Amino acid sequence: MSALLSIRGVHTYYGNIRALAGVDLEVNQGEIVALIGSNGAGKSTLMMTIFGAPRAREGHVVFEGRDITRMAAHHIARLRIAQSPEGRRIFARMSVLENLQMGSVVAGAEHFEEDLERVFTLFPRLKERLTQRGGTLSGGEQQMLAIARALMSRPRLLLLDEPSLGLAPLIVKQIFDAIRQLNQTEGLTVFIVEQNAYHALKLAHRGYVMVNGRITLSGPSAELLSREEVRAAYLEGGH
Ligand SMILES: Nc1ncnc2c1ncn2[C@@H]1O[C@H](COP(=O)(O)OP(=O)(O)OP(=O)(O)O)[C@@H](O)[C@H]1O
Ligand SMILES: [Mg+2]
Repeated sequence: MSALLSIRGVHTYYGNIRALAGVDLEVNQGEIVALIGSNGAGKSTLMMTIFGAPRAREGHVVFEGRDITRMAAHHIARLRIAQSPEGRRIFARMSVLENLQMGSVVAGAEHFEEDLERVFTLFPRLKERLTQRGGTLSGGEQQMLAIARALMSRPRLLLLDEPSLGLAPLIVKQIFDAIRQLNQTEGLTVFIVEQNAYHALKLAHRGYVMVNGRITLSGPSAELLSREEVRAAYLEGGH
């Protein structure tokens, strides 16, 4: 199997501070892959490095065999890599519908209605709130909108940074169920960053553990879930 996304020896810095110290990671077509780790480990930095901001100082980001390390973010989006960044960055002043329209730009207009119905099936709540401004949605609704907006671009790779952050268990379950369903029915490839290691590894096929900008462990999710060092550091009392 050749990787859809391949991160090879990536080092990323903020000024002189090294946030990623030689990361190797792969996401294959049709997989859900989770990246777990403590606060400040470098998870969001890796996600952002895929989009080139910050850019990798060393190493390569390769998508479908193509080196995108130095590609501009809007070109990367056109390759149908979509991200729902940490902190649900939706357009606060735009309505739910306008946010979804923004997401659909790279997918083209012809699928708009169909894609809209698809995200409404996943998140019926959004359909009820079509004209409401993004900024006035609840935290869970904003997270749904951030993911729905990413889906409107018909992504070949969906990047999710902490989709469960600050949400009630029931909403987290809804969101994770939606991701699982998209993966199973449409083969959507997902790379998910999560502090909620238990939920993330239950969802994902494979996982990576990051500590201080380095991958320290990787393997099938079930195997990681059973490992003592993972349980002790990321699971005990954590779920
Ligand atoms: N813009 C920035 N300027 C300087 N340092 C930064 C910047 N963004 C992140 N860092 C630092 O880089 C390191 C990795 O941060 P990052 O946000 O990638 O961690 P994370 O694993 O996503 O953490 P969390 O689970 O808290 O979201 C941290 O030490 C952080 O303080
Ligand atoms: Mg983060």
